Amino acid sequence: MFGSMRVIVVTSQKGGSGKTTLSGHIAVQAELAGEGPVALIDTDPQGSLAAWWNEREEKSPAFAQTDVTRLYADLGRLRAAGIRLVVIDTPPAVTATIKSVVAFADLVVIPTRPSPHDLRAVAATLDIVEGRNKPLVFVVNGATPRARITGDAAVALSQHGTVAPVTVHHRTDFASSMIDGRTVMECAPEGKSAQEIVALWTYISARLAKLPQPWTAAPTPVPAPAADRAVFGRAEVTNAGATVGTVVASNVVNVATGFGRRVAA
Ligand SMILES: Nc1ncnc2c1ncn2[C@@H]1O[C@H](COP(=O)(O)OP(=O)(O)OP(=O)(O)O)[C@@H](O)[C@H]1O
Ligand SMILES: [Mg+2]
Repeated sequence: MFGSMRVIVVTSQKGGSGKTTLSGHIAVQAELAGEGPVALIDTDPQGSLAAWWNEREEKSPAFAQTDVTRLYADLGRLRAAGIRLVVIDTPPAVTATIKSVVAFADLVVIPTRPSPHDLRAVAATLDIVEGRNKPLVFVVNGATPRARITGDAAVALSQHGTVAPVTVHHRTDFASSMIDGRTVMECAPEGKSAQEIVALWTYISARLAKLPQPWTAAPTPVPAPAADRAVFGRAEVTNAGATVGTVVASNVVNVATGFGRRVAA
């Protein structure tokens, strides 16, 4: 449905807000909805998304190994390889590096738990996005059903930007499904959690479709400071073990063809 490849950056300064969970779920749901091929990028040194992907049996979405110094070129290669959507997970910190990554976003997704701590941290997250003039959407994640604070949080967030009309509730299957590299849609496709992700992707997809610019119109990234760059990325993710498939670019793997299983040593 996209005229060109789109880039979603999932970011939040608050730790544990659901960045990695939503990155994986959005990517898989986009594939299930026929809007792939999708490539995932993990820019968090914790490597949680990469670890989840390494456990995954399914061949899609693809996982692209890159880092901020190569991101612009590698996004170009992914697009040339036919990738239609890139979902980028980020670490819970405010750094120049994350600002550089956000510069590539067509849409910034900000998971936020309905808690006072998360709401207070929103300002720091907005600092990351600020000045880039990026469309953003808050996703209330980990909500308790019927809790009043969920509505209060949505109201508070709406003063800073669009809030997704779908709330993702706290359910153990979001955590348990990811143990073996899956998602709630793959573990319980008829369940409430899966329904929420389907609805969330439907909303995000519609947002993306309305956006005026392909990512190539994104501003030139701000180079990260050398010190920041040194700790960025995950050197342990390699192409080792790849026997079939197509190398999209140096260090960028196309798992849509079965390439690059078990990238982490
Ligand atoms: N809707 C949910 N229901 C239940 N558990 C959830 C939900 N969303 C996330 N979790 C769990 O909360 C924890 C934190 O989620 P996740 O790792 O996605 O957050 P994060 O923002 O990526 O964290 P970090 O800032 O450390 O990168 C994980 O154990 C995850 O399984
Ligand atoms: Mg994470």
